[in-house]
Amino acid sequence: MERLIPQLIIFVSVFVSALAPADAYVKSILVFGDSQLDPGNNKFIKNCLLQANYTPYGLSYFRFPTGRFSNGRIVPDFLAQYLGIEFQKPYEEVYRKLAKDRRMRFPANGLNFASGGSGLLQDTNKKSRVTTIKGQLQQFQDLIAQRRLHKIQVRNSLVLLEVGSTDILSYFLFPGASNMTLRTYVHTMLKEVIRFTSIIYKNGGRRIVLMSVGPVGCLPGRVAIRDAPTNKCVDKINNMVKYFNAGLKRIVFNIPRMFPRAIGVYGSMFETVKKFRVNPKLYGFTNVTHACCGGGPLNGVLRCGARGYKLCSHPNQYFFWDNFHPTEHTYKLVSKAFWGGSKKEAWPINLKTLARIPPFA
Ligand SMILES: *[C@@H]1O[C@H](CO)[C@@H](O)[C@H](O)[C@H]1NC(C)=O
Ligand SMILES: *[C@@H]1O[C@H](CO)[C@@H](O)[C@H](O)[C@H]1NC(C)=O
Repeated sequence: MERLIPQLIIFVSVFVSALAPADAYVKSILVFGDSQLDPGNNKFIKNCLLQANYTPYGLSYFRFPTGRFSNGRIVPDFLAQYLGIEFQKPYEEVYRKLAKDRRMRFPANGLNFASGGSGLLQDTNKKSRVTTIKGQLQQFQDLIAQRRLHKIQVRNSLVLLEVGSTDILSYFLFPGASNMTLRTYVHTMLKEVIRFTSIIYKNGGRRIVLMSVGPVGCLPGRVAIRDAPTNKCVDKINNMVKYFNAGLKRIVFNIPRMFPRAIGVYGSMFETVKKFRVNPKLYGFTNVTHACCGGGPLNGVLRCGARGYKLCSHPNQYFFWDNFHPTEHTYKLVSKAFWGGSKKEAWPINLKTLARIPPFA
C-alpha cells in the first residue's frame, strides 16, 4: 500500500491534467447509511418511527419537508451538484415505480438506500423499523439480481457509506442493552463495514467512500444520556468514535490489497468538523453548541417540529439543525472538504480526483 499510493497519485494526476476542469467520469452515486444521508426513505416505510417528513424540516432549501433530517441539502446532494447530476432519489420511491413499470430504466444518476436511524448492528433501532445496512445491501443485491441495476453502472458509481453514529449513541443511551464490551461492539461494527465493502466490490463497486463518524459526544441530543454535561462534549463517547474511526481508516488503507483495482477513500467527518467548531466565525457559524430547532437544554430535548418547539432565526449560522443532525451549512462545508479538500479531509485522494479516474476495465 505504501508503494501503491504514490503510483496511484501519479497515475491519477496524469489523467486529471489532461482533462477540462469540470470533467468527471462518474455520473452516478449509490448511497448507503443513516439519517445523515437519508433523502426520505423512511417516509415510505410503513410504521417507521424515525421521520423528518414534517415542518420545519427542509425549510431553508426545498421549502417543504422531503424526509431529509436537516433544513436543506445533505452530503449526497452536494456531491451530486459537484458532479453535475441530479439528486439521487430514495430507493423506496424508485423501487415502487420500478415494480409497477417493467420497462422503466434504473436511474442513471444512481440511488439512495440510506435510512434514518439505521446502524451497522442488527439491534440498533430495531423496534423503529428502520432499514439497517444489512437490509440496504439486500435491497441493492436484489436490484442486481433482478437486472434492474447493472454491475457496469456500479463500477462507475461513487459508492458512499456513512453509518455508525446511531450504534455508538445507542451504546450510551441504553447501557446494558448490549452484552458486548466496548471493544467487541466496535469490532462487530467494523466487521459489518468489511462485509459491506466486500458485497459492494463483488457487485462491481470500485470507488468506495467510507465517511467517518462525527463527534457524537457533542450532539445536543446527548442530554438524553444520564449525567451527560451540557457545557462540554462527552469525552467517553468521542473516544469510542475515535476508536471506530481508526478501524475504519485501517479498512480504507487495506481496500486496494483486499479488493484489487478498488479505490477506497476515507472521508474524515470528525477532523473536518472539529475545525469548524474550534474556529466557528471563520466558517460562518455563530452557534456550534445548541440545536437551531428543538427545545429544552441545548434545544436537544424536544424533538424539532414537536408541539412547543423553538426555531432559531438563522438556521445556517448554527452547526446543529436539531438534536442529532447538522444544518445544511455544515453539510455544505463537509461536502466541499470531501470533494476538493486535503488529505486530512479526504484520504488518500479527494472525491474530485476519485471521480476523474477513468472507467475501470
Ligand atoms: C449476548 O447476547 C446474545 C443475544 O443477544 C447471546 O446470544 C449471547 O450468548 C450473549 N453473550 C454473552 C456473553 O452473554
Ligand atoms: C446558541 O443558541 C442558544 C439558543 O438557541 C443560546 O441560548 C446560546 O447562548 C447560543 N450560544 C452562543 C455562543 O451564542
